[in-house]
Amino acid sequence: MCGIFGIVTANEQALGPILIDAAKRLTYRGYDSVGAATISGRTIDLRKDAGKVEDVAEKYNFAEMTGQRGITQLRWATFGTPSQVNAQPHLDSDGDMVGAHNGNVVNNVELRQQFMAEGMTVRSENDGESCVHAVERYIGQGMDFISAIQHAYKDLEGDYAFVIGAINDDKLYAIKKGSGLVVGIGEDFTCISSDLPSILPLTRDVIRLEDGEIVTLWADKVQLHSVVDGGLIAREPETITESMASVKKDGYPHFMLKEIHEQPQVARELLHRMAGDQEEIEHVLLKIKNARNLYLIGCGTSYHACLAGSVYFSQLAGKTAIPVLAPQFEPQYLNAVGEGDLGIFVSQSGETKDVLNALQAGQSKGMTCLSMANVIGSTLTLKTEAWLPLVCGYEISVPATKTFTNQVITFMALAAQLGGRSDLDFDTLPDLMAETIETVDTSVRALVPKINPWEDLYILGYGLTYPMALEGALKLKEITYAHCEGMLSTEFKHGPLSAVTEGFPVLFVTGPEDVPLIISGINEVKCRGGEAIAVGQSDPALAANADDMIEIPDSNPIFASLLSVLPLQLLSYHMAVARGYDPDFPRNLSKTLTVD
Ligand code: F6R
Repeated sequence: MCGIFGIVTANEQALGPILIDAAKRLTYRGYDSVGAATISGRTIDLRKDAGKVEDVAEKYNFAEMTGQRGITQLRWATFGTPSQVNAQPHLDSDGDMVGAHNGNVVNNVELRQQFMAEGMTVRSENDGESCVHAVERYIGQGMDFISAIQHAYKDLEGDYAFVIGAINDDKLYAIKKGSGLVVGIGEDFTCISSDLPSILPLTRDVIRLEDGEIVTLWADKVQLHSVVDGGLIAREPETITESMASVKKDGYPHFMLKEIHEQPQVARELLHRMAGDQEEIEHVLLKIKNARNLYLIGCGTSYHACLAGSVYFSQLAGKTAIPVLAPQFEPQYLNAVGEGDLGIFVSQSGETKDVLNALQAGQSKGMTCLSMANVIGSTLTLKTEAWLPLVCGYEISVPATKTFTNQVITFMALAAQLGGRSDLDFDTLPDLMAETIETVDTSVRALVPKINPWEDLYILGYGLTYPMALEGALKLKEITYAHCEGMLSTEFKHGPLSAVTEGFPVLFVTGPEDVPLIISGINEVKCRGGEAIAVGQSDPALAANADDMIEIPDSNPIFASLLSVLPLQLLSYHMAVARGYDPDFPRNLSKTLTVD
């Protein structure tokens, strides 16, 4: 979740402090490296490195940077490790052009080889540099910037936005394709950024770009062109009146809701990244394939992702994977663990003490240890042999949502590749997620008054949806403070059924293949006066048996399992808000648990 910012002024001036401030305002997106470039006349001053904005800016004295134009970028590593050379912005071959991007250029590896074969100087592994060379390629053929960007757009696959400028010019140019980009218009300057928080302290007059638009920024005006035909686009600026706090939430009332809605986009970024990093994925898959015993280890929500992963490895690849709650790893398995075994340690924060304890125990027995985490540079990522990044950017809300779905998708994609299941079209998954979030919201909200008076609830699932039932129940108890148990649907009759009284709500999460079994469970609840609420794909029998139904879009059973957790996230959110609780900061809980 990188962030870019660029500014164009009328005359050469001190730009360093403006760039530092803009970079600081983008840090909420998550990053591992930072850089700044200023352009004045015939020179470009470029300073960058891995590290925090404060540290890098101080070490390289960004504050003294002057110029007529400036660019800063915060990088969240996808292509290439966090390092000075991979940090952005990047120069073109001759050093007379500089640019930075946000997003993922999925054909980066192929493009870098082409650029090198064409004689260009490629300094890093980073895909932001590919954006610069893609423009350089056509500027070198004598094109102007707009035409060069139009041609580069055809070469660069993926979702991205980039900003670029050159010496002997007075403008910056930028394009949006999939990643956010907003223009700011001030007195005697214009600016551009991935997001509003870095623009609003400078000006409240903005133009939001749409995909496929190129913008040219002068100090006193901007011009928009269509990337397809180069035609001019007219758009008046709008004035932003919201507070900075609400802007950071992107107009959503809470970070949790914003993060729920971000899930399709971060899923898309994750899938792009995995597709572009096949060498690393093959390496991980080989280890999984050859593992004598495979353990998937985590706590809380991350454990539920492990449980889902275990079902996917079995169903898609015929591989047994043992899901383990991290503190139970030592008493239950360690005595039998040895070389030849593989542990994948899963954690949003990468700092959970329970997980680190299990890691240390596994390593002491010679187990190969890999990790999956969201926070770059976290202890877990540093202490494991290889690390699968979740590419979610910051997750601010305490309840994990987007990190969970990207953990699940990582396991799903690994299992599908291991099992040769190319029939699963992962490209459709982000759109299915977006459709689910959009279509279920009304039915979810309608259920809130019915369910919210109850302080005891059950969410039941089976097979592929069992982990989602556990996760839905955890979300619900975490932020509504109601007691909610997630359970295998078939277990309900072995005891908890006695809790059912008139109106007692039980949610049944079902995949398309498990409907008959779930209907049995529904009727066991209904005939005792309970209310059965089904979450699943459209199915006349399911709808006829359940009291209420939350319908998710049609897909295959594997994708359906992931989609089914989205209404449960929304349900817990709306219930918490209706109870007057702040879902972002539930009582007694912390985002990072570094204690035993
Ligand atoms: C629930 C939640 C927690 C965490 C758990 C492990 O929404 O976020 O259950 O999943 O504390 O944390 P990580 O994933 O950081 O290891």
